[in-house]
Amino acid sequence: MTSVVFGVLISCLLIHLGSAYFLDPNCPIDPDHNSVSPFPWMALVMLPDKNCSGTLIYKNFVITSANCVFNQSQIKVLLGEFNRKLKKNTFEFPNKEILVRSVYTPSHYNENNYKNDIALLQLTENVLYEAHIRPICIWLIGFYIDTGKQNFTTPLWYLTKKWTFPFPKRTLFSKLELDLCEHSLGINPDKSQICAGHEVKLCVEAGSPLVQKITFNNRSRHALVGIQSYGVSNTCLYTNIESYLEWIVGIVLKVEIIVNNIF
Ligand SMILES: *[C@@H]1O[C@H](CO)[C@@H](O)[C@H](O)[C@H]1NC(C)=O
Ligand SMILES: *[C@@H]1O[C@H](CO)[C@@H](O)[C@H](O)[C@H]1NC(C)=O
Ligand SMILES: *[C@@H]1O[C@H](CO)[C@@H](O)[C@H](O)[C@H]1NC(C)=O
Ligand SMILES: *[C@@H]1O[C@H](CO)[C@@H](O)[C@H](O)[C@H]1NC(C)=O
Repeated sequence: MTSVVFGVLISCLLIHLGSAYFLDPNCPIDPDHNSVSPFPWMALVMLPDKNCSGTLIYKNFVITSANCVFNQSQIKVLLGEFNRKLKKNTFEFPNKEILVRSVYTPSHYNENNYKNDIALLQLTENVLYEAHIRPICIWLIGFYIDTGKQNFTTPLWYLTKKWTFPFPKRTLFSKLELDLCEHSLGINPDKSQICAGHEVKLCVEAGSPLVQKITFNNRSRHALVGIQSYGVSNTCLYTNIESYLEWIVGIVLKVEIIVNNIF
């Protein structure tokens, strides 16, 4: 398919779904300290012998890194976890475990390097959005975003081989020069990748989101800008979401329309 045709198709899909700016217009506005969960889009991706991080982007799609899920089966996601000690009546907000139906990775993904390291997990059911389970914002019109200067607020589960923190915790990262990732990780990153990290804190967590607080129509939202691919201590490489927008929209919204036409 030529990119012109593809662009027209995407525009039609977006008009069809009534959304011009975000992949899912239900992504929360002003997601701050007063909400039930500060990161209602955070997912734990559970495999038989490891856990990774992921992000809910649509009612039936979670995004993560390809290296986490490539050639794997029996994948589940856990949604709706947050620090229950800080809120009353948290039983009203139970977490939810959902099985993954299909895994999509870009056709040029190759396990031996960290290019195209992104994966979409199609869930076996549509998530019902609640205060503690909502999708993150994915901007479809890039020129509104400034990814140059600001820092990232990025939650991590602090996964280790033996233990997973019971809810995601906020971490602040800054954008680093790609050269730094090149030196620290011994790879050749390109524009489809982002290098980010922290001077002292560890950042490594496969599939974790790189999140930027953005303003749109004078309201703040959290936008997904990267998916962690690889890292060593405090220098981490992310797949740049902007480079994969067409791929993401094509899969997520095409599946939606096919499903709508069947039922
Ligand atoms: C994955 O996380 C879940 C939930 O915290 C935990 O029960 C499980 O033991 C973890 N699995 C691995 C392999 O770490
Ligand atoms: C995928 O997994 C199957 C079964 O576990 C294995 O036989 C095969 O070699 C794997 N393929 C790759 C490319 O890792
Ligand atoms: C971003 O992070 C750096 C390093 O931690 C810090 O010096 C700087 O003040 C931060 N900038 C903003 C806008 O928060
Ligand atoms: C945007 O928000 C600021 C601060 O909350 C407020 O002072 C300003 O009037 C708002 N602007 C518009 C156009 O709503």
